[in-house]
Amino acid sequence: MAFESISSLQSPVSISMTCATAPGKIILFGEHAVVYGRPAIAAPLAQLRATAVVEDSLTPGIRLLAADLGTDIQLDEAAPDDPVAAVVRQLQTAAQLPQLPDLTITVTSQIPIASGLGSGAAITAAVIRALAIHLGLTHLASDDWVSNLTYEIEKIHHGTPSGIDNTVVAYEKPVYFVRQQPQNLIEPFAVGKPLCLLVADTGQSSSTKAVVGDVRRQWQADPARFEALFAGCGRIAHQARQAIERGDVAQVGRLMNENHRLLQEMTVSSVELDGLVAAARAAGALGAKLSGAGRGGNMIALVPAEGETAVAHALTQAGARSVLTTALTPTSPIPDNRL
Ligand code: MEV
Repeated sequence: MAFESISSLQSPVSISMTCATAPGKIILFGEHAVVYGRPAIAAPLAQLRATAVVEDSLTPGIRLLAADLGTDIQLDEAAPDDPVAAVVRQLQTAAQLPQLPDLTITVTSQIPIASGLGSGAAITAAVIRALAIHLGLTHLASDDWVSNLTYEIEKIHHGTPSGIDNTVVAYEKPVYFVRQQPQNLIEPFAVGKPLCLLVADTGQSSSTKAVVGDVRRQWQADPARFEALFAGCGRIAHQARQAIERGDVAQVGRLMNENHRLLQEMTVSSVELDGLVAAARAAGALGAKLSGAGRGGNMIALVPAEGETAVAHALTQAGARSVLTTALTPTSPIPDNRL
């Protein structure tokens, strides 16, 4: 996550401004099953970012501007579930500040909303970081705090988030993640050989809360079947981590295909997602799957370096609204298993 602070000393009144950004994210393995304590793997999507700018204001109150969300309101007029207002109130509570100074908080985002790329978590993390730095609350701007506070906000919007989205956008590192008590397992991992991934958007929005809620209803109706599906996803995520670490790119692709099949059985794929997955495989992708909550949003395809253009073209021909390239690049083995 990036940030900068600027103070203007040219005007008679000194106005200071703080800017912070946070990335989008992709889930490589284990979405949905991760909510039920199975391992999952996710990575930041650095080229799509949410940005928050916090400026001192000469007018009383806190003005919240978020053009993408259609918001231009004063904090004290905002509904309790307003996404940006909830973040500001959360930080005020965490910092135990009886009052905040007069501010303008402007939020912009390149991450499409409701598309499985973690737009909500990224906006929240950027606002928390910018506001904490601006107010001199440096301990609340640490990755741990930004992740924890973002998780609290995710609970308001998503009901039962696993915690993987806030972790990836706050730390901005690929992670192997297990939701567990008393503390989630959050492990970085080595990447043996580069993984080149295409991220393609169906253009259809999908509510994470609704899809996660529907999976829960299905799990309650048929726990044995869904536990078996979740266990399968967990096994795949575990094997995928090992394949990524030893640089077995073909095996990573096979495991993506297997994971997509289990997600289809959970009924979280869609005609459009399946269409893009099939088009990517037919054009030479080593593996492809939906990414995120599903029923719309984005899919990912693992491509050999020389096959990127052909697969990107096939995805566009099959109706993808946009196609992005991202990569997991080799790292040295990680000595410490904490972030
Ligand atoms: C959403 O990015 C991933 C889900 O597994 C939900 C969650 O982990 O909170 C569908």
